[in-house]
Amino acid sequence: MSKALYDSQHGFYTKGPLIGRPEGTFNTNAMFPAFAFAISQAITQAEALMGEPVRVVEFGGGTGELAANILTFLSSLRSNYIIVEISASLREQQRRRGITAVQATETLSPAPTFVLGNEVLDALPVHRVMRDGSGELLEMHVGLDDDGELVEYPGQLSTPLLAKRLDDERIALGRGQVAEVCLALDEFLYEVQRIVSKGYVVFIDYGDEAADLYSYKKLNGTLRSFRSQKPTCDPFDAVGEQDLTADVDFTALKHAASNAGFFCVEHSRQGSWLTNLGIKQFVDWSQDQEHALMQIHQLTNMAQLGSSFDVLIFKTAGLPDGLALHPE
Ligand SMILES: C[S@@+](CC[C@H](N)C(=O)[O-])C[C@H]1O[C@@H](n2cnc3c(N)ncnc32)[C@H](O)[C@@H]1O
Repeated sequence: MSKALYDSQHGFYTKGPLIGRPEGTFNTNAMFPAFAFAISQAITQAEALMGEPVRVVEFGGGTGELAANILTFLSSLRSNYIIVEISASLREQQRRRGITAVQATETLSPAPTFVLGNEVLDALPVHRVMRDGSGELLEMHVGLDDDGELVEYPGQLSTPLLAKRLDDERIALGRGQVAEVCLALDEFLYEVQRIVSKGYVVFIDYGDEAADLYSYKKLNGTLRSFRSQKPTCDPFDAVGEQDLTADVDFTALKHAASNAGFFCVEHSRQGSWLTNLGIKQFVDWSQDQEHALMQIHQLTNMAQLGSSFDVLIFKTAGLPDGLALHPE
């Protein structure tokens, strides 16, 4: 998955995919100006709660569309908005929109920061594990068959951390059950912690708590592949041409954040969070009220994106909870 998405030459993200356009690979929140409006409200609230200006660090900014839209509402933030983006060609797209983009956090010093990650955690590579008929936990490795085709085959765990993660979450997979484990979450949260002297961290993504993610209902796990906005049935087909993603383990995310020194202050559905942030006021900003209302409906309606994504907010010690925690 790591190679398929991030190989320095052939990786899906390395090649700078079209994201969020009708012809693109997938639609995301990032393409809606109403979403950027609501996020700009959250940034303004964070500044008020912290009592000082913040730097915004967005992880995995894609085409930079969300950043550019946020900066139309908070233009004074331009020199203080940085995207950390692993893909060189996406960094190029972000820079073309006038956004500062860096490859990794090394160049950033700790500062009061608002961290944003929209659909970045679901793009972190996962391991796939499986409990076999005898009850042993195995890892699904990737190899080549006699015809040179990519295949999955069960073998020893590549690291005991895979079993430890499931044990820590008190998960016992059923016999024959396949599941994904994202060990990269821990490293990711440490990277975030290193640059935030104080502040808030907002992740918006799809996923579940471990008990649901690893329930027997999800017998084959949640790894999915997409091409031109359509689900495909074979992750080994057209490697580097299709996106791969897996649901985020919110229990593991909360543990990783806590281990990195953050406190979870909010976990809700996107729809209610955006409503609490005052997304409806976007209509007053918009030239086209009908279009604005349509965007708000798509983003907040529980039958649409409102329940597709969860919002998880973390803070450093000593800050108020804040950031639209209370229902309207
Ligand atoms: C699913 S896309 C989402 C893009 C954008 N946030 C959006 O919502 O349209 C995932 C993005 O995260 C980037 N990414 C993945 N892992 C990353 C990491 N460790 N650090 C920074 N960016 C990363 C990918 O290159 C890509 O831009």
